[in-house]
Amino acid sequence: MTGVVTLVGAGPGDPDLITVKGRRAIETADVILHDRLIDKRALGWARPRAEIIDVGKRFGLEEEIQTSIMSIAIDRARRGFHVVRLKGGDPFVFGRGIEEWQTFVAAGIDVVTVPGVSSALAAGPIAGVGLTLRGIARSFTVVTGHTITDVGIAWDRYAAADTLVVLMGVANRQRIARRLIDCGRPASEPVVFVENATSETEFVVAATLAEVAAGEVQVESPAVWIIGPVIHSRVAFEA
Ligand SMILES: C[S@@+](CC[C@H](N)C(=O)[O-])C[C@H]1O[C@@H](n2cnc3c(N)ncnc32)[C@H](O)[C@@H]1O
Repeated sequence: MTGVVTLVGAGPGDPDLITVKGRRAIETADVILHDRLIDKRALGWARPRAEIIDVGKRFGLEEEIQTSIMSIAIDRARRGFHVVRLKGGDPFVFGRGIEEWQTFVAAGIDVVTVPGVSSALAAGPIAGVGLTLRGIARSFTVVTGHTITDVGIAWDRYAAADTLVVLMGVANRQRIARRLIDCGRPASEPVVFVENATSETEFVVAATLAEVAAGEVQVESPAVWIIGPVIHSRVAFEA
């Protein structure tokens, strides 16, 4: 009998943010294929004999590793095992969740999905910021900062967002900030970067768009970058 693959969102870092359904999937898995940044405490819920494989991507080898992840998962599922594919945040937010699901379906394997808490949503509350706020922001937009150099990216559309949340934007932060200012966002607009949200090394950096554009803001990846007037209403609190 063919097994099943459960695509599980591990949340942004803190294992307490994995859903109850996600934890149950980990507890019942025969095989767990997990991303590199998953908090290892979550793997402690696995059965003692579960096969646990770190399939974190290495720079420059992403496509080869992705192909190998899929073939291991398909092989184990065809042998009747319950395979958990554990991915950071939500697998369907810049996580290739749909592509992996399609690959499993094409291989004749059943898939169960367990959404996770995306870092895009978790980072705001961690930093005292709401992504929406009555009278201030009716919407938010989540964009990747990885592809800023691609031709045809309409930054004027993103610049018009009420609240803009940028993932994978640390390396290109200066260029993105300049582009947003060129597209009409106030240079004085407040921003926060939330590094390693919900982990022990979590760190919040507050600045303005002008400061980011000038290269004056130090920040390390992974970080979620939040831009918009909602930050004026940021709650100051002692963590
Ligand atoms: C490939 S995307 C995956 C996003 C993931 N699927 C999610 O829903 O959070 C990786 C980016 O997510 C963001 N990210 C993921 N986990 C994070 C965390 N704990 N703290 C801050 N940013 C995080 C960073 O912008 C990072 O570059």
